[in-house]
Amino acid sequence: MTAVRQLKGKCALVTGAGTTGIGRSVALELARRGADVVIHDRTMELADQTVVLLQGLGVRAFALAADFSDMSAARALVQQAHEHLGRLDIVIANAGVSQRKPILELTDEDMQRILGVNLMATMALTQEAAKTMVQTGSGSIVIVSSINEDRVIPEQAHYCASKGGLRQWGRALAAALGPTGVRVNMLCPGAIDTPMNQPYLTAHPERRETVLNRTPLRRLGDPTDIASAAAFLASDESQFMTGASLVVDGGLSLG
Ligand SMILES: NC(=O)c1ccc[n+]([C@@H]2O[C@H](COP(=O)([O-])OP(=O)(O)OC[C@H]3O[C@@H](n4cnc5c(N)ncnc54)[C@H](O)[C@@H]3O)[C@@H](O)[C@H]2O)c1
Repeated sequence: MTAVRQLKGKCALVTGAGTTGIGRSVALELARRGADVVIHDRTMELADQTVVLLQGLGVRAFALAADFSDMSAARALVQQAHEHLGRLDIVIANAGVSQRKPILELTDEDMQRILGVNLMATMALTQEAAKTMVQTGSGSIVIVSSINEDRVIPEQAHYCASKGGLRQWGRALAAALGPTGVRVNMLCPGAIDTPMNQPYLTAHPERRETVLNRTPLRRLGDPTDIASAAAFLASDESQFMTGASLVVDGGLSLG
């Protein structure tokens, strides 16, 4: 089904949307479907690069910066986004960081950085968004988690813990908010070709081969694969879904 202008009149916040990764692709897809969008990233310079791409799509687009190592910055971002847009219908909590390191070598700083940005800031962001949405009695929150939210990857233990925490947070939020009309779902990408993955996959071509061999559809995901799923969860097409984890991984998690 063509979803042209399906989100016209909706207002969205997409976090971590200034790179060439998943967030930018999601923001472009929401804008193509007619949504006004606040683009967030760590710096205005990054966020501005995506805002430029949205211009010409006939929607309002604004850039905002916030460093998610600080939970209060994530809360303030929601307020600022609401002020810019006038309302908040869709929040795509996408910003995140990853690290590969043997579990016994992880430092407190490693754990704090990954859990701080991925879990703590996302909890603060989505809680703040939920407070706003319950007042209007509608809204869709999409938490970009990972297939690693329930898989065991010893060299990404803290990353997996952050995504597993998000899954439980999102499910609890969904249960609490359901009666208010606000939905919360997790989106679980597999191996997607983005700046987060590129150093790992390009430094050692055999790693790319290994991932491809373990992926039944025999390719890496493209950010657009995740964008269409995010738009689905953001829209009324998924109106009977809440608390769900939608896997988009070419079958990688089957193995
Ligand atoms: N690429 C994959 O294979 C993959 C797989 C599963 C899940 N994910 C998840 O998808 C999301 C997007 O990742 P991506 O692959 O597009 O990578 P990416 O590195 O391109 O995007 C991450 C975004 O988060 C932002 N960010 C990082 N630290 C921040 C901070 N302290 N404050 C605010 N923003 C910060 C980055 O600037 C960037 O815009 C992440 O949550 C990631 O965990 C990615």
